[in-house]
Amino acid sequence: MAENERSDLDHAAGRNGDGPAPVKDEAPAQQVAPPLPQPGGGRYAQIVGWGYHVPSKVITNHDLEQIVDTSDEWIRTRTGIEERRVAADPNETTASLAAAAARKALDVADVHPSKVDLIICSTSSPEYIFPATASVVQDAIGAVNAGAFDLSAACSGFVYGLAMARGHILAGDAEYVLVIGAETLSRIVDWTDRNTCVLFGDGAGAVLVAASDVPGGIMATELGSDGSGADMLIVPAGGSAHPASLETVSNGSHFIKMEGKAVFRFAVRVMAEATTKALDRAGLTPDDVDLVIPHQANLRIVQNSVLRQLKIPEDRVFVNLQRYGNTSTASIPIALCEAIEAKKVKPGDNLVFVGFGGGLTWAACAVKWGVPTAAPEVGWWRSTRRQAGYQAAAARSMWRRAVRWMYDVWPADPEEAASGDHEATAPEPKKQVSGSRGE
Ligand code: ACO
Repeated sequence: MAENERSDLDHAAGRNGDGPAPVKDEAPAQQVAPPLPQPGGGRYAQIVGWGYHVPSKVITNHDLEQIVDTSDEWIRTRTGIEERRVAADPNETTASLAAAAARKALDVADVHPSKVDLIICSTSSPEYIFPATASVVQDAIGAVNAGAFDLSAACSGFVYGLAMARGHILAGDAEYVLVIGAETLSRIVDWTDRNTCVLFGDGAGAVLVAASDVPGGIMATELGSDGSGADMLIVPAGGSAHPASLETVSNGSHFIKMEGKAVFRFAVRVMAEATTKALDRAGLTPDDVDLVIPHQANLRIVQNSVLRQLKIPEDRVFVNLQRYGNTSTASIPIALCEAIEAKKVKPGDNLVFVGFGGGLTWAACAVKWGVPTAAPEVGWWRSTRRQAGYQAAAARSMWRRAVRWMYDVWPADPEEAASGDHEATAPEPKKQVSGSRGE
């Protein structure tokens, strides 16, 4: 997109910042939804950037046949999955995948990381129990003005994150919110348990949500939870209920445990119900939906819920689980990016994102897509400046660590220095958190 066209669009959208501006709704009259409630007083939350990153290592069903007692035929017919990506390199962690996806989302939006107000990272396989993976990402991408927190709602987490982003934007608390879904489930899967290890994969997807005065964007959300089913999909140990001990490690309590059949029944029911409720709130019906992007857990769940119960035809449902397996909270943003690449999303389209997962939780949202999906042309100068910005973020992070180390060596309190009590021996340098590795 030429620079002068961009500024015209920005002007039309009433925005001064950079990034692609949402376009006015150009859908034919019969597709236009009834007037929406405007809780933000004419302020809307539009998705303006998107990106995903998956590890390069592919594990096929045939590879799994060598590891556990399973078959390609069983996995394909019971789940639809053919292969998945696995973070084989120890430097590939949830934060590094998340940071890569986040950078791509910012690049598509052409927004500088310093403009991001909030980073929400949804994950069930975080970098650490704390600090939040979102904070590691914040440092890695140089989002120096952003707050950051992790969100735990299992596979529903990305849609929960969109709901949080919408709330912050409509309340006027944020202009740009980065919502990330990222997982390295391969690190918490029991590779001897055929009931679970064939299902999951690793990856990350991110979207940048921006304040806009163009109607549409994230229009309505439906969030739910039934904690009575908490033990149906669980990593039992490592929290306060069962802290890590020799016993928890030796009996495999740090791995994912799942009652597959019960989760299946629950998923089929809530996917349809949550979608219907989110559409109702947006003033839409299943007939108005241009594309459903469901959580990519199992093809049979999608067929039994979205296709059969909601009667939404197959060509309006996006599925890519055959190549990635269930990447939990990353599955919807990865699928969104691939749907955009496949030219299945255009301005004015009504989209539904719907997910379910551990908790038990479920979440759906209705989105009226607002921005062009053709990647804007980025000149060499902008692209070089962007790369330099990420290098600067890594340098800034190292500088801050160095300054903290200096405070450890030299006392900040001059009286303490004068008393001579201070041990002037240099401490061991602190270990760098993994999200910034190799930056
Ligand atoms: N290969 C071969 N056989 C297998 C495998 C395998 N990988 N896994 C299970 N089986 C066997 C079982 O042992 C069982 O054998 P049995 O009849 O001799 O006891 C048989 O296959 C049937 O097992 P079921 O569990 O009845 O199989 P089902 O048709 O229910 O499919 C599955 C299992 C795929 C797990 C399905 O129940 C499912 O998809 N559930 C939902 C899971 C899910 O989506 N979880 C993620 C939630 S998102 C999140 O928060 C992470």
